[in-house]
Amino acid sequence: MRFDVITLFPELFAPFLSSGINRRAFESGAVELKLWQLRDYADGTYRRVDDRPFGGGPGMVMLAEPLEKCLLAIREDRAAQSPNQPKVPTVLFSPIGQTLNHAGVESWSQSDGAILICGRYEGLDQRFIDAHVDVQISLGDFVLSGGEIAAIALLDAVARLQPGVLNDEGSHQMDSFNPALDGLLDCGHYTRPEAWHDERVPPILMSGHHADIAKWRRQQSLALTQTHRPDLIESARALGKLSAKDEHFLRHLTSGGTSLA
Ligand code: ADE
Repeated sequence: MRFDVITLFPELFAPFLSSGINRRAFESGAVELKLWQLRDYADGTYRRVDDRPFGGGPGMVMLAEPLEKCLLAIREDRAAQSPNQPKVPTVLFSPIGQTLNHAGVESWSQSDGAILICGRYEGLDQRFIDAHVDVQISLGDFVLSGGEIAAIALLDAVARLQPGVLNDEGSHQMDSFNPALDGLLDCGHYTRPEAWHDERVPPILMSGHHADIAKWRRQQSLALTQTHRPDLIESARALGKLSAKDEHFLRHLTSGGTSLA
């Protein structure tokens, strides 16, 4: 899988590529990442990549021409490397895009990759978006100063899903939001010491009874989700992912039986 990133700030990606789990994913080649400095595709002494908006208004707009030149260079480079690979989508990070979620990350993690465009300033010339952008992705209803953090978020989430990247192969199966786990939030986790500031680890986790521990974790997960994201309980219910025991537990919970932070 290969991702190409068009950015004015390729140096922002270096710390991310050289630490932890991401480093393993990118060094092993599980995910290939190529950074493209947009300014290299701009003309003139000043290598201008933006200009004032027609019609007036604040801020600057990214020029269509360098963006298109860079995009075409990437497409050529990809075609030279993998002549038979179908055209990958061009993605723009923008607050008007679809909000990224687990299903989206999972689908990108099984793809051939994409060309990621990190916008800056007030955005890109709309004619470039209309001509070349296939998908717009947002991190949420807020405005970032550029798409780099969003690109890093997507790459991080995709990298950790690649086989062999996490130490414990099964650990991403247990992630919050994983539909294989019914899309519920993950339960809390505990490690040494057994007592910390007079707070003990829940005794069931020390019991060695795997079935009881699994039941307790399921209930914690249900209770946490009911408290923090009741919408996810509704989705799991609509998909038929809640058992009769789950429903019984939730009824008991809403009638004040269990409380969770
Ligand atoms: N660029 C600016 N704001 C953004 C957001 N919310 N998500 C993704 N990219 C962005």
